[in-house]
Amino acid sequence: MRVVVSIGGSVLAPELESERVAAYAGALDRLVAGGCDPGAVVGGGGVAREYITTARALGGDEVQLDELGIGATRLNARLLIAALEDAAAPSPATGYDEAASALRRGEIPVMGGMTPGQTTDAVAVALAESVDADLLVFATSADGVYDVDPNSHDAAARFDELSPAELVDVVLPMSRDAGASAPVDLLAAKLIGRAGIRAVVLDGTDPTDVVDAVLHGDHTGTDIVPDGSSEPPAWTGER
Ligand code: UTP
Repeated sequence: MRVVVSIGGSVLAPELESERVAAYAGALDRLVAGGCDPGAVVGGGGVAREYITTARALGGDEVQLDELGIGATRLNARLLIAALEDAAAPSPATGYDEAASALRRGEIPVMGGMTPGQTTDAVAVALAESVDADLLVFATSADGVYDVDPNSHDAAARFDELSPAELVDVVLPMSRDAGASAPVDLLAAKLIGRAGIRAVVLDGTDPTDVVDAVLHGDHTGTDIVPDGSSEPPAWTGER
């Protein structure tokens, strides 16, 4: 089955440690060994934030800041490609067709950012839609989707399951608050609904958790279940 894994930059390379990147490459290799065709999208993490903060202080406009962020995501994508060696396409795909072609050749496409004004969450949904993925996993620094920001509300409750429309409703107010970070950005939430893609939002600190979620549906995050969608083939033993 086809799966797209969106790896937050703060999850893949919080401190640019080779061990975490190597562990993610190992997780993608295990997905291949388990019968999956994975694609990966990588976020910018702290490196992107540092460049953006510095450029903002220099008076850069928002598009310039986004382009710096995209550059950082592609650097992180190259780190993952280095760790995947021959299993990956040799450079970050700069188009969805290019990524889909790599997948057809049996390579793992790795993408970073694409267009100013969004984040890699939206890239991951677009890639999942273009390759007709059975599942999209957001490996984030949050352990699922909560009704309110758990960092500022002790009584925040995590959802086990949401429809894409419910996800949009939950993420919308979080996206309005300055500084608050939604586990999945608003555009991505809307695109999930449009594409009707089944998704999981989980804590990606341990890449093994991504493998268990993809191969067995075994996770403690939040399932995003579009109307009429069926379980991914691996969860029902079909591969
Ligand atoms: P990320 O996808 O990493 O953003 O892209 P994020 O969700 O804020 O960060 P983490 O990694 O999950 O913590 C980093 C930045 O790159 C630009 C945006 O400025 C974004 O904030 N970007 C990324 C784009 O402009 N377009 C893209 O397609 C991707």
